Amino acid sequence: MCGIVGYCGSQSAVTPLIQALRHLEYRGYDSAGIALGVGGRLFVEKRAGKLANLESALDASPPLAHSGIGHTRWATHGGPSDHNAHPHVDNDGKLAVIHNGIIENYSELRVRLQSRGHTFSSETDTESVAHLLSDLRKEHQGDLAAAMRDAVKALRGSFTLVAIHADAPDVVVGVRRNSPLVVGLGDGENFLASDVAAFIDYTKRAIELGQDEVVRITPTTVEITDLGGRQIEPKEYEISWSPSAAQKGGFTHFMLKEIFEQPKAVADTLIGRLSDNKQIVLDDLQMSADQIRAIKKITVIACGTAYHAGMIAKYAIEKWAKIPVEVEIASEYRYRDPIIDVGTLILAISQSGETMDTLMALRHAKASGARVVAICNTNSSTIPREADAVLYTRAGPEIAVASTKALLTQMIAVYLIALHIAQVNGALNDRQVEELYNELLELPGKIQAILETVEPLRALTRSFAQNNIVLFLGRNIGYPVALEGALKLKELAYIHAEGFAGGELKHGPIALIDKGTPVIVILPVAHEDGLDEKMKSNIQEVKARGARVIVIAEEGAHIEGAEHIIRIPVAPALLQPVLATVPLQVFAYEMAVARGNDVDQPRNLAKSVTVE
Ligand code: M6R
Repeated sequence: MCGIVGYCGSQSAVTPLIQALRHLEYRGYDSAGIALGVGGRLFVEKRAGKLANLESALDASPPLAHSGIGHTRWATHGGPSDHNAHPHVDNDGKLAVIHNGIIENYSELRVRLQSRGHTFSSETDTESVAHLLSDLRKEHQGDLAAAMRDAVKALRGSFTLVAIHADAPDVVVGVRRNSPLVVGLGDGENFLASDVAAFIDYTKRAIELGQDEVVRITPTTVEITDLGGRQIEPKEYEISWSPSAAQKGGFTHFMLKEIFEQPKAVADTLIGRLSDNKQIVLDDLQMSADQIRAIKKITVIACGTAYHAGMIAKYAIEKWAKIPVEVEIASEYRYRDPIIDVGTLILAISQSGETMDTLMALRHAKASGARVVAICNTNSSTIPREADAVLYTRAGPEIAVASTKALLTQMIAVYLIALHIAQVNGALNDRQVEELYNELLELPGKIQAILETVEPLRALTRSFAQNNIVLFLGRNIGYPVALEGALKLKELAYIHAEGFAGGELKHGPIALIDKGTPVIVILPVAHEDGLDEKMKSNIQEVKARGARVIVIAEEGAHIEGAEHIIRIPVAPALLQPVLATVPLQVFAYEMAVARGNDVDQPRNLAKSVTVE
């Protein structure tokens, strides 16, 4: 939440700062602002609302400066307004700071600073840091990095801070605690940013900053120290994403582009996962066969859409590997004394790798002695760096706030883990594993087939645009799909959407059905367990009460009572979510467009939830 950028170099700083903020806007869009160091004074411009408002304000004639900081905000303390927008400035008007995270002890700091004569002009937690840094910089004879080291010692919470001072405009200083900050290494220019997307147009060389490390950049130098001032040797890496991955590439929205990228994302995540001797290759887990055989229980921790991938992990791992799996909402996990022992493996699933709730749950599990494997899409982000091992999904950058391709690749990752464990512990034999793996390889083509026939669904969706409630029903592995369909619709269409397990319908939710209520049913794959027949009864029950029923069903399934049937290709029951999710993404996308909502940046949301 909140996007941060700092720049030092030879360009007119406004250009790379605004370009970076465009790439970071998905992290928050309540306000945007910049501060530039211009000949002994600061130029600050900030505006409530989207970045476009700031850009218009800067159109007049932005001053020429070669360094600066920029921020795009997701509001926590203080509403979205011009005066609460970052950067925040000290009373001398010379020091500016931007912030991502929460300063938990801001009110006591504020009282202390006010008693020392500082006056405040916002309701934010961040402004306290501007005043604190200002005092500390004076104590350190103008050394902003030393001031930052001391300031951090006085702060509680999770934060990334970046600051600049007008008297030394060639220097930008940053620090991180529990929130992300990366350094971009350019040619005669350097960057600080919340993620690499901010500077990928300028450089592919990056350094990930560690916990409680302070960085000081100039156009030609990067110095990293710990809070004691000791130098830290930076670990440089090459960014594998191409700049074009962060462009819309002809699509009207990033979300639509990312939906259409799913066949490739799934295929990429599967590359090289079966050896010539038919073994699932998951060296990424860094677990020996003995360690895998010693797993007694698996706990998945995740939030939002990633939590739904976790639910699918439960079905797949329990079915194939015969190991009990718990799925936990990460924000609840550490507050209820979970039972963790040496036989517990934790799977932490996160697209961004920065979700604070998941990170805190991971830390709790590690501190209790569990081994943690992350499933993550963002290289070198905090969750994989703190986990014992990581299986990277290969979805590429996901820019739209609503998660699509990341989810499908998370599903693939959990299937691979389930198959690997099942093969090692003998729950499945090599032939069974190979057959299932071959079914996984079929999925990209099947997703492509759904996407090629999606136009009628888009038209159909528009006919539901005025509805203010949509219900989703699933059973078994279709249940997390129903939850995901509802979550997508809530966040994009801003309407009441709920997912239910079909069997729960008569225990309460059926009271919601009224004449014309749309109900989307994920029909289970026909199987000897008769689950599909039970769901067909649910269809009749809701139809009898006036619902408009849309059914997502595999080709060939016989259905009565549906107003519309959306066909998906045939696949094994446990793999059906990869296919059934796609029409629901398209449904939510089209609803948002039809209702005139901002698809890529839905209201009140941010891509990475970096506060608890
Ligand atoms: O980056 P993460 O996967 O940890 O994010 C978890 C959730 O915040 C995320 O999936 C959220 O629910 C999405 N906006 C849903 O589309």
